[in-house]
Amino acid sequence: MLVDTSQAPLAAAYEAALRADVAPFIIPGHKRSTDLLGSVVAGDVPLFAGLDTLRLQHGTLAHAEALAAAAWGADWCRFSVAGSTHGNQALALAVGQPGDTVIVTRALHRSLLLGFVLAGLVPVWLRPQIDPLSGLPLGVRTADVAAALAEHPRARAVFLVEPSYVGTLSDLPAIARVAHQSGVPVVVDAAWGGHLGFHPALPPHALAAGADAFVTSAHKMLPAYTQAALVVARTERLDAQRLERAFDATHTTSPAGSILASIDAARALLVHDGERLLGQTIDLVAGARAALARVPGVLAPGASGSAAPFIPDRFDATKLVVQVAGTGASGLDLEDDLVEAGLPVEMADRDTLVATVTMADSAETVDRFVGGLTAAIERRRGQPRPRAVSVAWQVTPEPACPPRQAFFADRTAVPILAAVGRIAAELVAPYPPGVPVIAPGERIGVDTVAALQAAASAGTRIAYAADPTLRTLLVLDEAPHR
Ligand SMILES: Cc1ncc(COP(=O)(O)O)c(C=O)c1O
Repeated sequence: MLVDTSQAPLAAAYEAALRADVAPFIIPGHKRSTDLLGSVVAGDVPLFAGLDTLRLQHGTLAHAEALAAAAWGADWCRFSVAGSTHGNQALALAVGQPGDTVIVTRALHRSLLLGFVLAGLVPVWLRPQIDPLSGLPLGVRTADVAAALAEHPRARAVFLVEPSYVGTLSDLPAIARVAHQSGVPVVVDAAWGGHLGFHPALPPHALAAGADAFVTSAHKMLPAYTQAALVVARTERLDAQRLERAFDATHTTSPAGSILASIDAARALLVHDGERLLGQTIDLVAGARAALARVPGVLAPGASGSAAPFIPDRFDATKLVVQVAGTGASGLDLEDDLVEAGLPVEMADRDTLVATVTMADSAETVDRFVGGLTAAIERRRGQPRPRAVSVAWQVTPEPACPPRQAFFADRTAVPILAAVGRIAAELVAPYPPGVPVIAPGERIGVDTVAALQAAASAGTRIAYAADPTLRTLLVLDEAPHR
């Protein structure tokens, strides 16, 4: 274990709880015994009457959250056991009132859109810029944010996803300046950005770049337990009590101590060893990119000298994105080979693979990945094809009614081609990245249907659709009255 738990009160409490000689008459019902279910419940300790007393008399969680707030220059922080999904819901519930407008990137994750359903917020969409060389999303334009703010002067917040699934960022400092001039807070889904700001070669974290709040999954780019997340805010433009209410409204009352303690430990590791460990990760990824960029037909954006270098302070240097259209191999076939070789990746579609490389990787794991992918490409090599922009990054939404209204409305299943021109009652997203391509309340376009069908027939999982075969789509029974 590298982390020093004396710097992490909740992690220290977890270690102590594991050692304690107790016969608990509390939940969880396995009573810290593995006799009935085996190792699947080993190490499970609750927060309440586990890491602290039932009445939280030691304030250990609050102490750990205060340390995290300090680490990110925030004045409010909560630890979540329900992922950035919960954080997004909480942040949506923390701004505005039902019916209020918010300005939002269309590269949002489905969890934020469903947060808008819960909160009754009405999104005004910003489309991400697309890099013409790589076809990857680059973030939103500051000018588009400024125009949306001018057109919607009563907007309550700007919601962004930074970094994107492929590691690119908007010009967040400029966007924050523009939004703050209008008195509007900037809220960032930084699910993939927990490590940002802790190495000079990485972009600053969202608060350092001027945002008012962010959520991050500590289980994604930080080495915490699955489901671990933090919500972090500065409360100049957001109300701390409202944040608190929103967070608690959607969080469990029985949080797992193991998850909470791992967030605390990940924060301590980041603060004390992050720069060194991230430096190693950045070097490993740079090496992997360079090696993969030498494979004929492969593009690894971010590599200096590659055909599509991203701007350093707007690109997460730990992100390993591999584009394979030029090899003729299908990214989904390559993914199958990689899974077979014990090397599953974060995302694959026909043209692009995204491999998550973190502080927990080593030269050995990364070399194994590069070797496995290179071998798979050589096995699957075919006729090079032009790169296509993923359907997830090129949605042109046509809102017809607020997402909340459509979510609760009467619906009917119709054959997919008959759904064209109708108002969607459901959310449909190729997963990953989980960006809604069809969202409740939007008119369904013919191009969207064609792109979804193409993605599905290429082997991409189409998530959340009531009919995952996409033979039918759920549409509103009738156009709702405005
Ligand atoms: C941008 C973004 N936001 C939020 C989430 C949800 O995060 P979690 O799985 O921690 O709930 C994801 C998941 O992949 C994501 O990519």
